[in-house]
Amino acid sequence: MAIFLDTSNLDDIKKYHKMGIIRGVTTNPTIIAKTGKISNLGEMKNYLIEIANFIQPLPLSVEVTTNQLDEMLKQATEFSKWSDNINVKITIHGPNGEDENLALIHELEKTHKIKTNVTAMMSAQQCFLASLAGATYVSLFGGRINNMGYNAIIEIQKLRKLLDDFNLNSKIIVGSTREAINVVEWLHAGAHIVTCTPNFLNQMIVHPYSKETVKMFLEDGKKINLKN
Ligand code: E4P
Repeated sequence: MAIFLDTSNLDDIKKYHKMGIIRGVTTNPTIIAKTGKISNLGEMKNYLIEIANFIQPLPLSVEVTTNQLDEMLKQATEFSKWSDNINVKITIHGPNGEDENLALIHELEKTHKIKTNVTAMMSAQQCFLASLAGATYVSLFGGRINNMGYNAIIEIQKLRKLLDDFNLNSKIIVGSTREAINVVEWLHAGAHIVTCTPNFLNQMIVHPYSKETVKMFLEDGKKINLKN
């Protein structure tokens, strides 16, 4: 699994997919709104189907845009029909702490066989409960945890141990990347997946000393006459 791309920018998805280094794509309403191209369901459907088809069979996470339970169920059912590699993101609870979302997550997974990605989670305990409810993916927001003065690595380690000890099948996605180092550090701490923004992949690939070394090879290569 390892690295997912946290974007809905198709050019970036194509670029890193071609390199074979991504194993899935995650989006959220904020990421989709940023494209400036989507203002209704039809546009969102066409845009996300294009991404889902392009990365097939890799998974694509699409988040519901409401916290009304009946509407969430309707959207989740609709999104999951767009492509069989789409899973549905549902927040752990509503904007005012409404805690019925886990019941919907359980119903989506068990009754409707719709894969869920439970999102906006800031602690191992939230992810543990989402996993018990049957979530396919549990998304911990590493950068936001660190922003609040807590340590994302400790939450990841606790969560991975809980999932392993209790034989829970959810995969841990850690998102909300803030620095390139987050990717390897969070995977090392026990995340199954880190979903990262495209800029950090470029930073992971390019190293100043590698540049210098490549320049040396190319300069010395000029001294070797390979023409017959
Ligand atoms: C993860 O699934 C989310 O889409 C994302 O990583 C949130 O990141 P942010 O904290 O930068 O909004």
